[in-house]
Amino acid sequence: MDIKLISNESYSAKNNIEVEFVTIESLGHHKYLKYLNKSGFKAKQDTTCYLYEKDLLICGIETKDSEYIRSAAAVAIKSLKTANYKSASFTVEKENIKSIIDGVVLGGYEFNKYKTQPSKPKLKNIYLTCTNVAQLKDAFEEAIIIADATCFTRDIVNIAPDELNPPSFAKLAKKLAKENSLECNVLGHKELKQEKCEAMLAVGRASCHDTKLIHLAYKPKNPKKTIALVGKGLTYDSGGLSLKPATAMVTMKMDKAGACAVLGIIKAVSELKLDIEVHAFVGAVENMIGGNAYKPDDVLTSRKGDTIEVRNTDAEGRLVLADVLDYAQDKVKSDYLFDFATLTGACMVALGQYTTGVMGHSSRLKHDLSKASNKAGELTASLPFNKHLKKQLKSEIADICNISNKPYGGAITAGLFLDNFIKEENKDKWLHFDIAGSAYTESPWDVNVYGGTGAGVRFMSEFLKNIK
Ligand code: BES
Ligand code: ZN
Ligand code: ZN
Repeated sequence: MDIKLISNESYSAKNNIEVEFVTIESLGHHKYLKYLNKSGFKAKQDTTCYLYEKDLLICGIETKDSEYIRSAAAVAIKSLKTANYKSASFTVEKENIKSIIDGVVLGGYEFNKYKTQPSKPKLKNIYLTCTNVAQLKDAFEEAIIIADATCFTRDIVNIAPDELNPPSFAKLAKKLAKENSLECNVLGHKELKQEKCEAMLAVGRASCHDTKLIHLAYKPKNPKKTIALVGKGLTYDSGGLSLKPATAMVTMKMDKAGACAVLGIIKAVSELKLDIEVHAFVGAVENMIGGNAYKPDDVLTSRKGDTIEVRNTDAEGRLVLADVLDYAQDKVKSDYLFDFATLTGACMVALGQYTTGVMGHSSRLKHDLSKASNKAGELTASLPFNKHLKKQLKSEIADICNISNKPYGGAITAGLFLDNFIKEENKDKWLHFDIAGSAYTESPWDVNVYGGTGAGVRFMSEFLKNIK
């Protein structure tokens, strides 16, 4: 699908349908109220009504707020993909252009890599018509870059685990680096041994694929700030010897979603040509079983030097992140440090499937992030640390334990485990995002369709855009 911003004066297209958003208030004085009434259309959110003779698709919205426009645009595009129009047009203005682009691009997304006969919609072009193209051009290009980067993240989350394993993930990162003029450095087994990344290496030990630490960097001249991003890249999480039950193992290809988000974010930043230096660090690992697997009762020495008692091999993400966070902090002195991880089922229990859990020490940073996510149309909520929960990670034989000794507060204790590996000078620069629920879905919601959602890309791009 090709999306163009054009002037409504110059615009005329054959076999085009116009999409119009209607609130309950505006329905009462609609030009075609008579027909809309006949069809029983009440302008309810996410309902639609085709007026075929007028080449019009009417979409109900609760209010003109961006969240409603975005959702309605997603509903419209899904419906239009099965219709026989060649193009669709939306009237856009400054207030709604981003929501419409998000709705159309993200709501219209399909992952067809493994379909031998994908559906072929007749719809080819989307026209966003406006009175002044020059005025909206920047907002248009920016929204397209961010939505495309979100789709890029979804694409790689959705790739099957046999195809996207740690070495092929590194290849994919190198390809992105080449296309977007990023620096790229990949550490394999030998280098990771030299770096003493024993926690990360233990997790990947039973896999037939080599563990990789990937470092991408976007370095513009005279950057205003430096940002380090870290992503959990479990290309598959079987649980290891603390094996997951069969039903819980399905979808665990998505355990690389943090790493995929980090790649999507650096892609967006480099295409937006933002004036900030961004480093993306990915721990690409596969958590498997076998005679050489790491086990409950093992004690690992992390890169930082702290020893970790393993009591559950399914709490592997934090072991990988412990080493990658430590490496990242040694490699770059950054103004902000953000990690993205599908870290805990407990985060979903706490917040539901739709919301990213945000953890960290700086209230100011959490506040700024919350503002950015509201604007970007992603749901985030803060999960507060406290000193009592920290005690639940105490180990009798090592410096720290990889699981909590109590069944409550699992998302926060995982965040506190990561906090143990954040250097004192970086405490207020760091946020941890638990995207376990928000990164993947098996039923559509908002602009998300089956599979990876691209969680993190939109809110982080919005945050980074506004860095002063
Ligand atoms: N990758 C999982 C977390 C997860 C679960 C992500 C479901 C998405 C959907 C993580 O590695 C894990 O297994 N965590 C355990 C931790 C527990 C053993 C302390 C969990 O959440 O059950
Ligand atoms: Zn796990
Ligand atoms: Zn995991």
